[in-house]
Amino acid sequence: MSALYITNIGCLVGAHPTNTLMLRGQEMQTLPVLENAWILCEDGKISDFGTMANQPSQLPNQVITHDAKAGFLFPSWCDSHTHIVFAASREEEFVMKIDGKSYEDIAAAGGGILNSARKLQLASEDTLFESAAQRLADMIKQGTGAVEIKSGYGLSTESELKMLRVIRRLKNHFTIPVKASFLAAHAYPPEYKNNHEGYIQLIINEMLPKIADEGLADYMDAFCEQGFFSVEDTDRLLQAGAKYGLKPKIHANQLSVSGGVQIGVKHHAISVDHLEATDDAVIESLKTSNTIATLLPSCSFYINIPFANARGLMNANIPVAVATDYNPGSTPSGNMNLVVSLACIKLRMRPEEAINAATINGAAAMELSNEVGSIAKGKTANLFITRPMPSLAFLPYSFGQSQIETIVLKGKIS
Ligand code: NIG
Ligand code: FE
Repeated sequence: MSALYITNIGCLVGAHPTNTLMLRGQEMQTLPVLENAWILCEDGKISDFGTMANQPSQLPNQVITHDAKAGFLFPSWCDSHTHIVFAASREEEFVMKIDGKSYEDIAAAGGGILNSARKLQLASEDTLFESAAQRLADMIKQGTGAVEIKSGYGLSTESELKMLRVIRRLKNHFTIPVKASFLAAHAYPPEYKNNHEGYIQLIINEMLPKIADEGLADYMDAFCEQGFFSVEDTDRLLQAGAKYGLKPKIHANQLSVSGGVQIGVKHHAISVDHLEATDDAVIESLKTSNTIATLLPSCSFYINIPFANARGLMNANIPVAVATDYNPGSTPSGNMNLVVSLACIKLRMRPEEAINAATINGAAAMELSNEVGSIAKGKTANLFITRPMPSLAFLPYSFGQSQIETIVLKGKIS
């Protein structure tokens, strides 16, 4: 039995009631805090917390005491959208972008997703695991305590399975919860350039049964976008995934209003992600659903595309999450602190809303909010402690700099 008692917490953030598992629109303004607090973690879970004026009369045997020295304590970031398994960086495209080429120009020139797929197909499972593990370890140091990871740079049965096996190894290797999404429908591989139907059939009839057989994926994803997968393709793919119990989490409306959000909602998607292009119909369809709108502001920032209409979504009482989209092309960064700052600066979310979007709603976008995403008794003790800060808003305000000093995973300082 291990126990950790953290004292002198300047402000304990995110103490939502235990039964709060997701926040819709206006509810996101509420972020319960406790000033001058302590927290007790036992056997990897949060067992109790309170104010320093009211400390527990008895502590477990062999408890480790840690003085937070007036720092703020947060639930770990929950990064619900990443592509961290990849074989090589793509900084040559970064330079093309500086020279004025668009995301579509780069993709059309054989760059983009197909560039990553060519390199991943040649890489061994071990090399892919090692580089992805390094990325995940870096993300954890920056406060991430739960993550979703996608396939989608394989684009063949063998390589998609290889990617998903790497994700399974990451699940086994790290103590944080890891969810896997199957994204073979990320781009049409060159050999199916003129035979889209053939690739859809390959995904449905060959890849999905094998993946289900090995239990390699938790979710079904597709890049629903002009020039990638149409609404009709996406509809069929989500239907096929559902036969194997894979719920959708999809890429929608990144570059244009595509109908992707509505098709996600039709299939009861856990989340529809990106939404840089949003119109009234998108808002209407999400309003009456439980689908989360996951926004990726560091992607908009990095590839210079519009930022999503977070305020419009929240005003319509839609649950909003934010995530990194960490991938080698559109967002080579897994820094959730920067995402929270960008959510405030560019999505005009208030600090409380941005923090809720990056914690409890991020957890909900991975169906993990009964486990992580807030400070509640019985939840996994994945937390971070900052330096002392003048206020909560200081965290996103001090953009590009980390205030984090201590990481706690499963109740242990790591
Ligand atoms: O989420 N939009 C599709 N997929 C990634 C980009 C992938 C890439 O460029 O390699 C994204 O932005
Ligand atoms: Fe993505």
